[in-house]
Amino acid sequence: MLNFTSEIVKSVADTGLIEAAEAEALLVTPPKEDMGDYALPCFTLAKRLRKNPAAIAAEIAEKIAPSELIVRVETQGAYLNFFVNRTAFVRQCFSEISDDSKDFGATDHGRGKTVVIDYSSPNIAKEFRVFHLRTTVLGHALYNIFRALGYKVVSVNHLGDWGTQFGVVIAAFKEKGDREALDHEPLKYLTQLYVDYNRRMAEDESLRETARGWLRKLEDGDEEAHELWRLFCDLSIKDFKRVYLRLGIEFDHYLGESFYFRFTDEIIRKAQADGVAVESQGAIVIKMDDEDIPPVILRKSDGATGYHTRDIAAAIWRHENFGFDKMLYVVGAEQKLYFRQLIEALEKLGHGWAKNLEHVAHGLYLDTREVDGVQVRAKAGTRSGFKVILEDIIDDAVARAERVIDENYPNGFPGDKKQAAEAIGIGAIVFGDLKNGRIKDVVFDWETVLNFKGESGPYLQYSHARLCSILGKYGGAVEREVDFALLDDPEEFAIARLAADLPRILLRTAEACEPSVLCSYLVALAGAFNKYYTDISRHKVVDPANPARTKARVLMVDCVRRVLGKGLKILGISPMEKM
Ligand code: ARG
Repeated sequence: MLNFTSEIVKSVADTGLIEAAEAEALLVTPPKEDMGDYALPCFTLAKRLRKNPAAIAAEIAEKIAPSELIVRVETQGAYLNFFVNRTAFVRQCFSEISDDSKDFGATDHGRGKTVVIDYSSPNIAKEFRVFHLRTTVLGHALYNIFRALGYKVVSVNHLGDWGTQFGVVIAAFKEKGDREALDHEPLKYLTQLYVDYNRRMAEDESLRETARGWLRKLEDGDEEAHELWRLFCDLSIKDFKRVYLRLGIEFDHYLGESFYFRFTDEIIRKAQADGVAVESQGAIVIKMDDEDIPPVILRKSDGATGYHTRDIAAAIWRHENFGFDKMLYVVGAEQKLYFRQLIEALEKLGHGWAKNLEHVAHGLYLDTREVDGVQVRAKAGTRSGFKVILEDIIDDAVARAERVIDENYPNGFPGDKKQAAEAIGIGAIVFGDLKNGRIKDVVFDWETVLNFKGESGPYLQYSHARLCSILGKYGGAVEREVDFALLDDPEEFAIARLAADLPRILLRTAEACEPSVLCSYLVALAGAFNKYYTDISRHKVVDPANPARTKARVLMVDCVRRVLGKGLKILGISPMEKM
């Protein structure tokens, strides 16, 4: 990490009044120049130190001696303002970012630690819908972020491939299933069969009994039930993988609920033997401490295991096999209670590590439509034209991106248009999702996500391409030994400071499991550079009349390109070289 922030943090920590990690988290960039280059607000220290924040700021300031890097420390109310040696700062910043032997932004924060991320996890025999888009892109971004921080990260796709709905799907297929229709559009066809059977089942008890019978057969290992189930799984996974491939996502493990079914008998037996699980109305359950919270059902009264039982088995299996320090479940906020119950059940079963499980909850997409009788949460008045099938959304985005490219390049696009449209369309969807705080519901709007000038994926990709094009125009190799004193414009310092912030931003993003932090940061960085560059009279980068300054500015451009490109890749977006 850059020495400046660490030096500030160290100097503050050396006063003994605040710990390094806390100082690091508190450090902010002040809004005005006269407030210094970095500032440390002391409000939160007031309670612990039982002093007023301004007095604390003054006390810390008094104990800090100026150094070569930190020129001066001032207080302004509760704030400590640090002024750095700007030339030294810019030198250090761009030298570090351009150093190929170091992976700028990467830290060893997570060295020796393992994080398991359970994400995406769509349900077999159902179409891959927009509902699973948020978990998919969030989980993928978190996977990349934790890796950049040096963690060993294991991604698992906890496919919904077991449980009640399979009794229904098998029964429906046995009733009037058509193999040809199935092969033609498997997920669409299975969803139709499911919806239709489900609807009739509500009025016809005998259909419900048949579905239950098939589930029982499946759980008892019946061959025919198993064969159909296997077929549905294979067809579904093939479809899911096609979408993942387009999104650039790979999973370390596809381990669906079915995999853990084999462990459930033993878990239930032991839970009962230990007195953790009890019988209640014919079911076997683990009661929660808070009586208002429903118990976790390990075995239903009809003998079938539940979603919770398989998640308990999954957590135990993963703990044994991956030895995680942390496990994240990137799943919709509507399952909040479910995960609370899961964690409490695991604790009651004696697994102290259950405290390392975290439900990384996210909001939904809001839309107006109801599709195939399935209610997509609606918000009145919005007409986004947003489809529900994930692949349709991607196709739509790519087609729209192609149209925008045509508009922007009436004389032809300088590159492979199809490939660019694919990358831009996907970038638009991914960024359009991630820029929202994860817990917020998202109202999707094509105008916004595809706006090349707004806070969008295409805007960042375009900014990246612009940086590449400046370097292309320069033509020569980027030199690292430049006269850094020539980068003395306040806007150049602002760009350097932003670029230098990447490692800290990645940490914050990981701590809050909030990729929107990284999104805002990249928008700010691209914005700072674009603003700088637009002022062409003052900030011409390639200027034959001024070769020394050109070299320095070219290095800066290259560093911004590196940081922006890195951030985009972490989010799961392709940085464009031409656009
Ligand atoms: N398949 C579930 C759904 O679509 C999500 C699974 C999340 N992961 C888990 N371990 N429960 O709602």
